[in-house]
Amino acid sequence: MDYVSVRVSTLRGDQKIDFNAYIKINDKMILYLRRGDSFEGDRLKRLKEKQLRKMYILTTEEQLYRGYLDRNLEMAYDNASGKDLQTRVEVIQGAQQSNCEEVFENPESKENYDYAKDAAGKYVSFVMSNAQSVSSIMHMENTDKNLAHHGVTVSTLAIALAQKLGINDIKKTQLLTLGALLHDYGHFLSGMNVNQKVADMNPADKLLWWKHPSEGAAKVRDKQHFDQTVINIIAQHEELIDGSGPLGLREKDTDPLATIVCSANAIDRLITFEGVPKSEAAKKLMLERVGQHPLQHIQLLSDIMKGI
Ligand SMILES: [Fe+2]
Ligand SMILES: [Fe+2]
Repeated sequence: MDYVSVRVSTLRGDQKIDFNAYIKINDKMILYLRRGDSFEGDRLKRLKEKQLRKMYILTTEEQLYRGYLDRNLEMAYDNASGKDLQTRVEVIQGAQQSNCEEVFENPESKENYDYAKDAAGKYVSFVMSNAQSVSSIMHMENTDKNLAHHGVTVSTLAIALAQKLGINDIKKTQLLTLGALLHDYGHFLSGMNVNQKVADMNPADKLLWWKHPSEGAAKVRDKQHFDQTVINIIAQHEELIDGSGPLGLREKDTDPLATIVCSANAIDRLITFEGVPKSEAAKKLMLERVGQHPLQHIQLLSDIMKGI
């Protein structure tokens, strides 16, 4: 029998699946989730803890899977669906995470990129029009320290920050979201352990860390379908306004959208990879990073984090 892999993150929500889902153990396919089951609660948690990112379905059931994905996402984006926000957010977060991984694994695909770009546009309007969504997304803990999950979180904080800064241009916010989603492509390429404090990294890791924005940008710069703004965000998202970032750029020479992603990233780096509680992250930024991020960003992020 032929199997095709599907991403675990796309199977979230309370909707029943109409295909069988398998996991692969020692080259054997084990039926894990049966047709008619849904993918929630403990089951999802256990798989996340195992860091299992892919499951398998029968090739003959691929159409059923596609149909499930479309229905699931359509329901989640529908403000009139009557579903609770947490369920909707889980489905949407999973889809965004999957879009990020698809581009990371296959950046030469224009189709993957365009799909992720279109989805980024939908995501912005969802977050901006559902005030509670930021809090719901921030409550989805990144237990497996997944880079794509981090990308979704950073894009969400970046949208919230942009909204407070009064940036409403749809084209800009869409590219901000896509750039924030993909910002750590360089880490995906190097495969380094990001789950440690930058200050505590050994010299080899520190060097990889220092180079990840430019390495990530270098790999996509020649791809015609990548927007320049997205490349700027990947290249400049660790630039600090005092010029102490990897490229030594000051704020006036940095893409303003990259500066927004940098501030949003600083918060989620502390929470996801440095073990700082959500309630402390903004305060830590305020105490230790004044002069490295725009003060207004720190203050607004502090307001955003208070509402979570
Ligand atoms: Fe980064
Ligand atoms: Fe990051």
